[in-house]
Amino acid sequence: MTDLICLGEPLVEFNPVNGEPLDSARTFSVGYGGDTSNVAVAARRSGADVGYATRIGDDAFGDALFRLWTDEGIDTALVEREPHGTTGIYFISRDPEHSAFTYYRSNSPATRMSPAWVPETAIRTTRALHISGISQAISTSACDAVFRAIEVAKDAGTLVSYDPNHRPALWETGRARAVIRQTVTEADLVMPNLSEGRLLTGLLAPEDVLAKLVDLGPRIIVLKLGSAGALLAHGGEITRFAAPRVDAIDSTGAGDAFDGAFLAQLLAGASPRDAAEYAVHAAALTTLGPGAVDPIPHRSAVLETRGLR
Ligand SMILES: Nc1ncnc2c1ncn2[C@@H]1O[C@H](COP(=O)(O)OP(=O)(O)OP(=O)(O)O)[C@@H](O)[C@H]1O
Ligand SMILES: [Mg+2]
Repeated sequence: MTDLICLGEPLVEFNPVNGEPLDSARTFSVGYGGDTSNVAVAARRSGADVGYATRIGDDAFGDALFRLWTDEGIDTALVEREPHGTTGIYFISRDPEHSAFTYYRSNSPATRMSPAWVPETAIRTTRALHISGISQAISTSACDAVFRAIEVAKDAGTLVSYDPNHRPALWETGRARAVIRQTVTEADLVMPNLSEGRLLTGLLAPEDVLAKLVDLGPRIIVLKLGSAGALLAHGGEITRFAAPRVDAIDSTGAGDAFDGAFLAQLLAGASPRDAAEYAVHAAALTTLGPGAVDPIPHRSAVLETRGLR
């Protein structure tokens, strides 16, 4: 039995070698992505017992993802392979300021997640469920699946963890705001970044954003602030966690690494404060290498670098 089930869409990642622009790139390094899959890997590398629930194709990219989870020791019992399905992929193009992502996922098996597909027994018997706004954006049936999964989890007393991961390209902003806001009211633990917090509250200052999110009801809220670290709200108190100073080269997946590290610590019995302190270190280490998954640190590496600052 697993302690944590992550539910969502995984993707295979293509990263141009030497940062060539996509229209002329000839060589790509291949990695893995998909926010909830990244969270599963991060939680697992921090010691949690993790299962991943998703739908992928029976194609080569589905095989590659399946091998990733198996190699990491992530339970794949809830991974459904769709016959003739084409697993989603994405390309990264990088300029000095930021990364841009080009997705080919519109007909992926994960878009056909639905309430009937939701693995109810597993969600009832695990300790935490992690879901994200990306799954709510990719299709109506996937959005319905997320709400059904939350309903099952709440009914069973399974902790509901939510990362809004708002991706404006995937859905209209008004609908995104409404759906994400509703989900925040239902979740126990919510881990947005600052722009998502601003979208939800209409406020600018991180402390104001956080206070308003607390009013929506989650027991634990972490507001992720990039290189400025994170703010935690729990038990009526707000605590700031500075990010260790690192020479970041690629922050892809840093938010997901934060989520997974935080969840693993929480499930191991750490207080939300200790979990946040650990997670800012895990997330900072994730920015030191290219891609989402490869640089996610193991627990031993996180513990070693906690003396960084
Ligand atoms: N340059 C950096 N230096 C140190 N830590 C960082 C840096 N960038 C991000 N982090 C860490 O990663 C966490 C998450 O980053 P960020 O606020 O960008 O989340 P996000 O926008 O959800 O990320 P994602 O793109 O994965 O969705 C931060 O709270 C911080 O702890
Ligand atoms: Mg994020």
